[in-house]
Amino acid sequence: MRKINIFDTTLRDGEQSAGVNLNMSEKLEIARQLERLNVDIIEAGFPAASKGDFSSVQQIAGLIKNASVTGLARSVKSDIDAAWEALKGGAEPRLHVFIATSPIHRQYKLKLTADEVKETAVATVKYAVSKFPIVQWSAEDACRTELPYLAEIVEEVIQAGAHVINIPDTVGYISPKEYGAIFQYLREHVPSIHKVSLSAHCHDDLGMAIANSLAAVEHGATQVEGTINGIGERAGNAALEEFAVALQIRNDYYQAITNINLKEISRTSSLVSKLTGMPVPANKAVVGKNAFAHESGIHQDGVLKEKTTYEIISPELVGFQTNSMVLGKHSGRHAFKTRLDELGLTVHDDEVKSLFQVFKDLADRKKEMTDDDLAAIVLEEKLSKEQRFYDLISIQIQYGTNQVPTATVTLSGCNNELIQEAGTGAGSIEALYNTLEKSMEGNINLLDYRIQSVGAGRDALAQVYVKMRYAGHETSGRGLAQDVLEASAKAYLNAVNRVLYTEELQLKLVQQQSS
Ligand code: KIV
Ligand code: ZN
Repeated sequence: MRKINIFDTTLRDGEQSAGVNLNMSEKLEIARQLERLNVDIIEAGFPAASKGDFSSVQQIAGLIKNASVTGLARSVKSDIDAAWEALKGGAEPRLHVFIATSPIHRQYKLKLTADEVKETAVATVKYAVSKFPIVQWSAEDACRTELPYLAEIVEEVIQAGAHVINIPDTVGYISPKEYGAIFQYLREHVPSIHKVSLSAHCHDDLGMAIANSLAAVEHGATQVEGTINGIGERAGNAALEEFAVALQIRNDYYQAITNINLKEISRTSSLVSKLTGMPVPANKAVVGKNAFAHESGIHQDGVLKEKTTYEIISPELVGFQTNSMVLGKHSGRHAFKTRLDELGLTVHDDEVKSLFQVFKDLADRKKEMTDDDLAAIVLEEKLSKEQRFYDLISIQIQYGTNQVPTATVTLSGCNNELIQEAGTGAGSIEALYNTLEKSMEGNINLLDYRIQSVGAGRDALAQVYVKMRYAGHETSGRGLAQDVLEASAKAYLNAVNRVLYTEELQLKLVQQQSS
C-alpha cells in the first residue's frame, strides 16, 4: 500500500470561506483536534496576511508536535521572512510558497510574462530553501496552464530545491480524467520528478474535488490537500474526511492508505462546524446526520438482516457513538472531568471548577446531558472567556400576539460599567437586537441569523449563529443557551466582542513591536 500524506488547510483555505472568522483560541482548538486526527501537515494560516494570522501560525507551530506545521507565502521575500519568523519554533517548519502559472493569471493578475513567472518562482524557491528544511511549491491555477510550460517550471523549481510540488485546481474546473492526465504528463516530462513528492489540491466548484483527488492518487500523487467538511473558498475544498474514508473503504482498488485516525472524524467535523458556524448538510457523505440513516422499508429490512446489504461505512468507523447520554445533575466533578478527557476536550485543572458550575446549573434545568451538550458548553465557556468586552447580565422580553414586543437589557460594558436599555421591534429578536444596538456605540447591521438545536428534545440547547457588520468589519458570533432569546443575545454580543478583541489584539501587537 502506498502512504498518502494528508495536508490539512482548514485553518488557511478553509478559513477563507465567506463569513468564517476564527479567533486564536478557536484556531488552537482546531489545530489540537487535527493533531488527534493524525493529519501529516497542518497549514495554519498565511503569516504575512495580518498580525493576527502571524501570531496564530506562530502559536500553532509552538503547540503542535506530531504534525508538520506550514504557512502560506506569496513569491515575495517579505512573505517568506514572515513565514520563517512564525514557523521557525515548530517541530518541522515547512513553507508553502505559490505563484500563479496559467495564462489568465499571468496576463491579468500578475501582469508578468511566462518567463518572468518562471524566474520569480525559481528565485523564491532558492531563497525559501535557504531558510526552511522543507519547501512546497504550488502552481496556482495549474490546471489551466499550458502543460509543456507547467512541466518546464516544475523542473526548474525542483532544481532550485523544492521538495513538494503541488498542482492545484484553484478554480475547481478540471475533471478526474484530465487531472490524472496532468500528473501522468508531469511524471513523464519532468526529468527530476522522482526527487519530489506530488500533491493534489482540489476545489469543488463542479462537485468533483474528491473524484479529482482520487484520480491524482491513481496517477502518482502522494499528498492530498483539503479541509474538514470541505469548507473553503467559494464551493470549498476537497473534504478530507471523505477522501480518507474513500481510501479506507476502497483500498482494494486504490492500494493506498493514510495515517488518519478515522475514529476522530466525527468529533473533528462537529468541532469545525461549531466553531466556523458552517452547518454540515444532513446528506453530506461520511459526516452528515443522514449518512447512516436507512429510511426506505426495503433498506431497513435489508440492514436488519445483514448490515452490509446497504451500509458500506459503519458509523463506528468514523467515531459516531450510538449511546452518548452520560451525565446528569447527580454526577460529580470527577465524572465530569473524566468524560471531558474521554471526549478529547482539553480543559486545564484551573478551568474545571467554573466549567463544572456551568454544567451543574444546566443539569438542574435539563433532564439529560449528552456528549454534544457537554462539548457545546465547554467550547462556549472556554473559547469566549478571553473576549468578553460586553457581557450579558440579564434580558427580559415581553411578547404577545397583539402587543409591541419590548426588550429590556442589562449588560456590563467595556469598563465594567452597568448598561441598561429598553427598546421595541416588530418581533422578539428584533426588539432584543434593537435594544442591544442602542446599548453600544456604532451601527450594527445584521446580515444573517441562524438557529440550531444541540441534540434532540424539547429541552435541547439552542445554538444561534449571527453574521453582522460592525465598526467597518464583517463579523460573526455564536451563542449557546437553553433559551433561544438568551442564545440570540449571546451570539450578538459574541460577534461585537470579536471585533473589539481583534482591534485590541492588533493594538497590543503594534505596541509590542514598537517597544
Ligand atoms: O487553490 C489554490 O490554488 C490555493 C493555492 C494558494 C495553493 O489555495
Ligand atoms: Zn485552494
